[in-house]
This record gives sequence, C-alpha cells and structure tokens, in this order.
Amino acid sequence: MHKYIIYIVFTLIALTSCNNNDSETNSNSSANEKLAEKFGLTLFELENGVGPIKSKLQIGEINNSLAEQGRKLFDEKCAQCHKLDERYTGPALRGVTERRTPEYIMNMILNPEEMTKRHPEAKKLLAIHANQMTFQNVTQENARALLEFLRMESSH
Ligand code: HEC
Repeated sequence: MHKYIIYIVFTLIALTSCNNNDSETNSNSSANEKLAEKFGLTLFELENGVGPIKSKLQIGEINNSLAEQGRKLFDEKCAQCHKLDERYTGPALRGVTERRTPEYIMNMILNPEEMTKRHPEAKKLLAIHANQMTFQNVTQENARALLEFLRMESSH
C-alpha cells in the first residue's frame, strides 16, 4: 500500500514538473514571437540576426588553422575597435559565442548597419557604445574564419 502511495506521489511530482517546463517553454516562445513581431523580424532572425546567413550552419569542432586565419583578420580589421577582454569602441568579444549564435555573429560581421537598425540586441549595443560598427569588407569565408577565432578564444 505504502509503495503505491509513494509511486503516485512521485508520478504527480514528475508530471507537474514536466508541465511547468512546458508552460515555461511555451511562454518563452510566445514572448519571442511577440518580440519578433514588434521588430518586424522572423523568429530565425531574432535568434540568428539579419543578413546573408539565412539558415543554420553546420558547425563542428573548433578548427585551429581556420581560427588562426581568423586571428590575422581580426588584427587587421577588428582590433581597432574590439579587445577580447575589455570594452573598447565596441564590446569585449571573448565569450560572445555564449551570448549569440554562430549565425548571429556572422550576420553582425557581414551586415552590421542593418543589424543595429533592426535587431533589438544590436540596437541595445549601439545605444550603449554610441558608435556604429561598420562593414569591414569581409567575405562570407572571412566571417566564418573570424567566428572560428572567436569560438577558440571563448573556449578558454
Ligand atoms: C568602427 C569600430 C568597429 C569595428 C572596425 C568593428 N566593430 Fe564590431 N562592434 C562595434 C560596436 C560599436 C559594436 C556594438 C554595436 C554597434 O554599436 O554598432 C560592435 C558589435 C560587434 C559584435 C556583436 C557583439 C554582441 O555581443 O552582440 C560582434 C560579434 C562584432 N562587433 C565583431 C566584430 C568583428 C569580428 C570585427 C572585424 C571584422 C568588428 N566587429 C569590427 C565596433 C566595431
């Protein structure tokens, strides 16, 4: 008899915690839908930014030689405004891969001006930094290498 009661109690706990999770995910996703609608973005764009990257990329393990190419590009094209660990003209970039998706980071690199006009997160950063990131003439391959460099630097 006791065994059954314990079983029932556990089942109830398990069921309520599942329900909670469901309603949380539902309310998060409906909040995101509202936010996307408010800014005239699709849900994909809200999560991954606005620009030439329009679908999820296949991102595997960190590729060191690609990251090293990215490091050179970073020194040439980004370091005048960004440091890894401190705010400069733009935000510190170590750890950016934890707050943004890979596609978001590439869209920011490839399309910064539209991003700060249309994306709520980029708009916030523009307001904080009072400076517009400008397009640095990077190709999509360059942006992928820069992403790899940022992934590598964010991993330690
Ligand atoms: C002229 C200065 C400038 C240059 C050059 C520049 N950035 Fe930025 N960057 C900024 C500013 C300022 C922001 C914040 C958004 C804004 O105000 O435009 C930003 C934002 C970003 C973000 C978004 C960070 C986040 O938390 O969402 C990424 C990623 C980024 N820059 C990467 C780069 C890379 C990579 C390069 C080199 C190709 C680069 N930036 C070149 C100034 C610059």
